Amino acid sequence: MTTSVARTTLTALALACVATLGHAQQAKLKVGLMLPYSGTFTALGVAIENGFKLRVEEQGGKLGGREIEYIKVDDESDPAKATDNVNKLIKRDNVDVIVGTVHSGVAMAMAKAAKESGTVLIVPNAGADAVTGPMCAPNIFRSSFSNWQPAFAMGEVAAKQQGKKKAMTITWKYAAGDESVAGFKEGFEKAGGQVTKQLNVPFPNVEFQALLTEIAAAKPDAVYAFFAGGGAVKFVKDYAAAGLNKTIPLYGPGFLTDGTLDAQGEAAQGMLTTLHYADGLNTPRDTAFRTAYAKAFKLQPDVYAVQGYDAAQMLGIGLAAVKGDIGKKAEFASAIEKAKIDSPRGPFSIGKSHNPVQDIYLRKVEGKENKMVSIASKSLADPARGCRM
Ligand code: PHB
Repeated sequence: MTTSVARTTLTALALACVATLGHAQQAKLKVGLMLPYSGTFTALGVAIENGFKLRVEEQGGKLGGREIEYIKVDDESDPAKATDNVNKLIKRDNVDVIVGTVHSGVAMAMAKAAKESGTVLIVPNAGADAVTGPMCAPNIFRSSFSNWQPAFAMGEVAAKQQGKKKAMTITWKYAAGDESVAGFKEGFEKAGGQVTKQLNVPFPNVEFQALLTEIAAAKPDAVYAFFAGGGAVKFVKDYAAAGLNKTIPLYGPGFLTDGTLDAQGEAAQGMLTTLHYADGLNTPRDTAFRTAYAKAFKLQPDVYAVQGYDAAQMLGIGLAAVKGDIGKKAEFASAIEKAKIDSPRGPFSIGKSHNPVQDIYLRKVEGKENKMVSIASKSLADPARGCRM
């Protein structure tokens, strides 16, 4: 080999090395979106994905310097398929992060898999108390709420502010419904009320007639209901069609009327609910978010869109601290734990159990809006019962 050929070969090799290194540094971050894209929670899954992508686009398509690649799985809100679905993302697709899901039963299977594999999981809705309770882990975060949070706040409002004494509850029979009812009962009974009867239907059934007849006969002072998405639309309309909204106020966590008012129309007017988001916040942060969301998707955002957006914010905060190297788990977690997240809902922080510590608003349905009435509970932290980290 002549000297000049050798030099050329070396230079070419060096260039190839630099190119490979550069490529490695810029490898895309694989985000597994495990959400419902079919069934009663479809609109919720879509709103979460939209919110998440809006934040990523605002950051130039990158978080922590890394471009994002999405791998999507429709979880069908089916707990029986959840372990297989999440393992596809972890083992087959080798994702760096999992974002999901809506349904508490599915989320618990995801949390178990994430805990075992160490994969970062950000829950953008499902309120399962266990996820930030007994199942809590350094790599598991939630950008939404625990089922206890809005429910407990509504129990206090119903007893203290609305003066109700006897309430009946009605929900889908699964973790989220059970925990929401338990949270309401805790808040309501601590403040002097009494839950007289708890009614259930299997998830995701919407045959409510027999139970509405039972409510009409029992005449409680109030009803507390947990339903969401398509099921919430049907329940609120059936409640009004039975004439019950004229005599027995219907309360719930804000899922009962969020993202559903177009379809519920007259039936929802005047309803009071509690949630960590509301219409009419009128802060510059929320207005900017709503304007950007409406422009991008030709839709008004709801609480689910906010939770998706904030999941991307939390991921961005963690990744920025480790310069895109999500393998640095302790630094990644500690950055999120220390952060004040600048959410459209208002700033919030992540408690020790990795669940938002946040204001819960009392909202009233007026037209197509869940108008903010007041702060029902300031900086409410989930009790995180059973979380040891
Ligand atoms: C849940 O299963 O945790 C759940 C589902 C839909 C909601 C809220 C909570 O809107």
